[in-house]
Amino acid sequence: MRALVVGSGGREHAIVRALARSATAPELLCAPGNAGIAASAEVFPKVGVEDVEAIVALATERDVDLAVIGPEASLVVGVVDALEAAGVPAFGPTQAAAELEGSKAFAKELMREAGVPTASHVLLTTNYDLALEEALSKDLPIVLKADGLAAGKGVIICDTPVKVHGALDLFYKEQRFGDTPVVMEEFLEGEELSLLALCDGENVVPLSPAQDYKRIFDGDKGPNTGGMGSYSPVPGFGAAEVEEILDLVHRPVVAAMAARGTPFHGILYAGLMIGADGPKVIEFNVRFGDPETQAVLPRLRSDLIDLFRAAREPGGLAGMTAEFDDNWAVTVVLASAGYPESSSKGDVIRGLAEAGEIAEVTHAGTAAVDGEIVTAGGRVLGVTGLGPDPAAARDRAYHAASRISFEGMQVRSDIAARAVARVSSP
Ligand code: AMP
Ligand code: GLY
Repeated sequence: MRALVVGSGGREHAIVRALARSATAPELLCAPGNAGIAASAEVFPKVGVEDVEAIVALATERDVDLAVIGPEASLVVGVVDALEAAGVPAFGPTQAAAELEGSKAFAKELMREAGVPTASHVLLTTNYDLALEEALSKDLPIVLKADGLAAGKGVIICDTPVKVHGALDLFYKEQRFGDTPVVMEEFLEGEELSLLALCDGENVVPLSPAQDYKRIFDGDKGPNTGGMGSYSPVPGFGAAEVEEILDLVHRPVVAAMAARGTPFHGILYAGLMIGADGPKVIEFNVRFGDPETQAVLPRLRSDLIDLFRAAREPGGLAGMTAEFDDNWAVTVVLASAGYPESSSKGDVIRGLAEAGEIAEVTHAGTAAVDGEIVTAGGRVLGVTGLGPDPAAARDRAYHAASRISFEGMQVRSDIAARAVARVSSP
């Protein structure tokens, strides 16, 4: 078994590690990969995640038995379609199915069609003055979002008129996310939950739920990021609650996609707000979450290669489950100076070996330069602690993270504090 993972982040490092545990003892390739992934897979730093031709060429030259696509950017440009057309079995949605993440407007339309609860929304006009007038006529807070892909950063929660102005300047005048339409959404209150499920076009197999910390600063302050930490499982979301959400969200979406002739294969990640009137979808992603994957996959006991292969076949997951161990996992992200607005590169990272003896250190934005590991992105590392309860897992993660240092390192200090409080005083 030879498997190729496409991507270069913490998510792909976590996937590579989980694949390495498969009973099929796969030979692992990763394109482009990063400095940490290079320890467990052959990496191809020159192959870009959106370079469909180069990815197909690599997969066919190396006679890959299974390609696993990590990033949304690859899926949205149709890497899975191209690989399958070239005879390479690929795990992930087709370009048409990836629209669920690629366009918020498409996702909203599908949810309406399938009767899936979500925040009410309107598409703003492209006329700046009229858009401003419309946005300011609403009760605040409102949420303004870039319609296309924005790495989790295209969402602005506006609780003052000044913020509405700022957001519209960013979207319309600076065109920070390109010439994309802007969606205005109802602000949802409650607790967020990430529920990911494997899909085979017909069936859904849930993974263990996780919670993600989106904002850059402690206490959920500051701008949104790709995610500053996570933990899994989540108190209060056991098998029964998960089943309810699957019935409400994942199953209707999978059925609606099949009815449209674009069946969904791959990971359907529902970002949910659990409020007073039940769960509502904030967004769909069509791939593993990052950093959630770093907290979920280390606990997986089932064979990931078996699950990925089954998900490619229509109905292939029937009767299968994904089993998780009883540990808790807490992942703390270490980000570089300036993130999420910018990132700094080339700073030497110290303490990796020491931290690696305490917890699982996952590389996200790292590079090897002159024999040293240096920062090479916004989110640099994830440190995952495992333990029999949230407190033990959290202590382990923070203990390991404290061993690591680089210039300008940003770390939230409150990851999983909520889970610890709930489990110790339910
Ligand atoms: P998205 O990229 O759409 O997942 O949004 C990123 C983050 O922004 C979410 O995880 C939430 O924390 C927040 N967010 C997005 N939409 C809403 C909403 N309608 N109400 C409240 N928070 C939201
Ligand atoms: N952690 C959020 C995401 O992967 O989109």
